Amino acid sequence: MSVLLSVKSVTKRFGGLTAVDDASFDVASGSITGLIGPNGAGKTTLFAIIAGFEPATSGAVAFEGRDVTALPAHRRAMEGIARTFQIVQPFAGLSVRENIAVGAFLRHADRKDALGRADEVGRKVGLGPMLDQSAGQLTVAGRKRLELARALATEPRLLLLDEVLAGLNPSEIRDMMPVVQAIRASGVTILIVEHVMQAVMSLCDSVNVLAQGRIIASGAPASVARDPKVIEAYLGQGAAARMQAQGDAQNVAADARRGAPDA
Ligand SMILES: Nc1ncnc2c1ncn2[C@@H]1O[C@H](COP(=O)(O)OP(=O)(O)OP(=O)(O)O)[C@@H](O)[C@H]1O
Ligand SMILES: [Mg+2]
Repeated sequence: MSVLLSVKSVTKRFGGLTAVDDASFDVASGSITGLIGPNGAGKTTLFAIIAGFEPATSGAVAFEGRDVTALPAHRRAMEGIARTFQIVQPFAGLSVRENIAVGAFLRHADRKDALGRADEVGRKVGLGPMLDQSAGQLTVAGRKRLELARALATEPRLLLLDEVLAGLNPSEIRDMMPVVQAIRASGVTILIVEHVMQAVMSLCDSVNVLAQGRIIASGAPASVARDPKVIEAYLGQGAAARMQAQGDAQNVAADARRGAPDA
């Protein structure tokens, strides 16, 4: 499969803090690729660098094999890179349709065209019945869908989703998963930052794990979730060994209940 996005040895320093530390990974064309890691690992910073909102201190970003490191955010949007924001801030005074049209204006200068495109995208993400409502009236789940729609309305080839499931209840998460899958099925490659593991496991083809700015594991979701380095990053030093010991103790107890021999 061809590579759509390449993050090459990206480092980002904020004064004395290294938020992203020599991170490299690829996103395959047509994939849903995960970027996970504990709070403060540098995920949102990396998204900002990929989309051109923040310059990297060093390293490069290539899109379709072309170096886009020097391009500003609006040029990268034209190239087909769109991101959602972790903290959603819709224009509360505008309707849902008008908010989505803000994204659509990137490729449709005519207001009527942009609003028509906004309707299409809004329906795709399940906001059809809310298009005329004021964005300020949306629930958290509605605002997350709006954020997704606004990015999708720029007609990206790569969509960067930053915690679009955060704050949703389990049934809202279940409703959102097919929306993300349908976007991929329509030909958009997705890089997703997400803390909801059940979603990461079922949506992603491959996952990259960031901890303290460094990529510590990459691969299939199931193998990454078993990786002791990943368990340590999430649960603290010695966690993998403790879990192993706990698992062994549970096995011994279960064997004892079944009357199994020690060996
Ligand atoms: N503009 C900034 N100036 C200074 N420090 C920053 C800035 N943006 C992020 N940081 C710091 O960089 C580190 C990485 O932050 P970032 O928001 O990228 O993490 P994250 O992985 O997205 O975390 P979360 O899962 O909580 O969203 C943190 O220590 C954060 O405080
Ligand atoms: Mg973040």
